[in-house]
Amino acid sequence: MVVIETPRSPRSRKAAKFERWGWLYMRISGMFLLVLIFGHLIINLVMNGGITQISFAFVAGKWADPFWKIWDGLMLWLALIHGTNGMRTIVNDYTERETLRKVLNYTLWVVCASLIILGTLVVTTFDPCVDSSVSHTLSVCK
Ligand code: HEM
Repeated sequence: MVVIETPRSPRSRKAAKFERWGWLYMRISGMFLLVLIFGHLIINLVMNGGITQISFAFVAGKWADPFWKIWDGLMLWLALIHGTNGMRTIVNDYTERETLRKVLNYTLWVVCASLIILGTLVVTTFDPCVDSSVSHTLSVCK
């Protein structure tokens, strides 16, 4: 006979509060991600010649405009936190050993934080004009 265990209740009031915010975050970030991700895909891969337009010059041109830096930065932060929190839910649902659960969740957040820091550095410090062998071909560097 298959035994279905009673769902585990949050360990403390603080944990319950965190779960509630996590639940809400998944829905709110999901709404933003719908616009950000599909907007990103349509603009980059469908409009103006589609995928053939993607090149270093295309990225340099896009990131010359702060609007696209904010768009891509938001997508990076929201999607990484959303994906990591979603994976945390899955880990909590499926791991039975407490130590393993903690190690997996800790690893998830470390990877998430590292990718957010690296990605944010790329988006905020990107300068296509530093390499003179390429910059003379780019209108944004003139
Ligand atoms: C198109 C935009 C997206 C929308 C509207 C969306 C929406 C949602 C919602 C509402 C949930 C909660 C489901 C639940 O609690 O039962 C969820 C879970 C999840 N999402 Fe997203 N999401 C989007 C994009 C993404 C992206 C880009 C990633 C990866 C980086 C991702 C990874 C996950 C994961 C791992 C879960 C947990 C699944 C589970 O609990 O079984 N989602 N998503």
